[in-house]
Amino acid sequence: MEAQTHDLVIIGGGPGGYVAAIRAAQLGMKVACVEARERLGGTCVNVGCIPSKALLTSSHLYTEAQTHFAEHGVGVGTVTLDLAAMQARKDKVVDQNTRGVAFLFKKHNIAHVRGTGVLAGRTSVAVTPADGGAAQTLAAKNIIIATGSIPTPLAGVPVDEVRIVSSTGGLALPAVPKRLIVIGAGYIGLELGSVWARLGSEVTVVEYLPRILPGMDDEVATTLQRLLGRQKLTFRLGTKVIGATVRGEAVALTVQPAEGGDAEVLEADVVLVAVGRKANTVGVGLEAVGVKTDARGMIAVDAHFATSVPGIYAIGDCIPGPMLAHKAEEDGVACVENIAGLHAHVDYNQVPGVVYTWPEAAAVGQTEQQLKAAGVEYAVGKFPFLANGRARANGFTDGFVKILAEKGSGTILGAHILGPEAGTLIHEVVVAMGYGGTAEHVARTCHAHPTLAEAVKEAALGAIGRAIHI
Ligand code: NAI
Repeated sequence: MEAQTHDLVIIGGGPGGYVAAIRAAQLGMKVACVEARERLGGTCVNVGCIPSKALLTSSHLYTEAQTHFAEHGVGVGTVTLDLAAMQARKDKVVDQNTRGVAFLFKKHNIAHVRGTGVLAGRTSVAVTPADGGAAQTLAAKNIIIATGSIPTPLAGVPVDEVRIVSSTGGLALPAVPKRLIVIGAGYIGLELGSVWARLGSEVTVVEYLPRILPGMDDEVATTLQRLLGRQKLTFRLGTKVIGATVRGEAVALTVQPAEGGDAEVLEADVVLVAVGRKANTVGVGLEAVGVKTDARGMIAVDAHFATSVPGIYAIGDCIPGPMLAHKAEEDGVACVENIAGLHAHVDYNQVPGVVYTWPEAAAVGQTEQQLKAAGVEYAVGKFPFLANGRARANGFTDGFVKILAEKGSGTILGAHILGPEAGTLIHEVVVAMGYGGTAEHVARTCHAHPTLAEAVKEAALGAIGRAIHI
């Protein structure tokens, strides 16, 4: 078949790829986006961010109805769970989101090419459809690889998506397991562990390190662990998993102290493996074309997302940096703008991270531990939600806002929030940091009363020694 020529062909239709496609179309490029899944949106929309948030919201409402409605004077009788309805709602939300992306492609005249894309040369991508239809070759002036990431396997714990599941299976369990063991106390482990604990599972989280959420602020992690402990999650920190055996309806998981010692067998009905994700770069044809990867299989790029091969770029989870949907989106926009001759870059220090547990944990910039290690002198402004009027009115006062500002200049270096809406509240600080803002800039900004956001203002005031409400 004769090759169709495009200004840009993107391999992968997740948040990195589809956003890059839209921005490129806005800039006047003729764009094709190759996607192996039937539906656009990638891991995030189909089996990641969106379905997990649907289940987190549903399971939170279920818990609230059981535990907190009465104190508000709201009686609901016996609260029951219809898991099939909850899952069906989740599927509907995913469907709406994938349709949304398809609509945006139509609106921008972007070709959605269904199939697996492989680099066939410096300026061509071969696409093999999943249904065995005729392969086609797309000719491209520029190519962006946005193939995302896949779960990291754990030796000795083979995923079957029934008894031993990845996040994909963990989002689609047909029944609430009596006992769930989660391996890995990272983003996925804590979010999905929370969902199933709320729905009634006894959840044990096994983590290799002596703490949860490595990379996050120590104080946020320690406090969140305590709060999750109240929600029926049990933590086995400093513990490594040696292997797993499925025995009929159960899984026997052999664990051992991380530093060595006696092995022990834990039993569960379902085991969720959430020990990280790795770049999805195998089978994309990188070697044949000469696109270089690093030791971890990530595609090496420069500040403009250019790979070692001229005209071929890479963005999102398949390159170094935080593996987050919103980071991939920023990569995509900046990459395309650079291709179009504009000047754009992404500062990964200003990419927020949010764990959507209850309460949420959110962070941007540096942690205290990182600043100490770098020898930076900083001031800490910290404000607890216990002292925030709206938090008290809402009936949830656990958590705090912490702002770290450079001594002397007051420039904000990082912020760490634990509390309801932390994932929304963090953005005020992200914007301030984006403009090189200081704690005083945030502190002097009028904040509506009564809002949880006032805790951000108070933390900023605290960083300059002027907190009012504490
Ligand atoms: P993660 O990197 O966040 O956490 C993995 C955890 O597993 C770490 O605490 C690690 O120490 C532990 N671990 C590794 N090997 C282990 C072993 N053998 N035994 C016990 N523990 C072990 O990875 P996770 O949770 O799988 O998430 C993958 C990616 O997806 C992350 O990069 C995250 O950024 C992204 N994600 C983001 C979400 C969000 O933004 N809310 C939600 C879900 C995922």
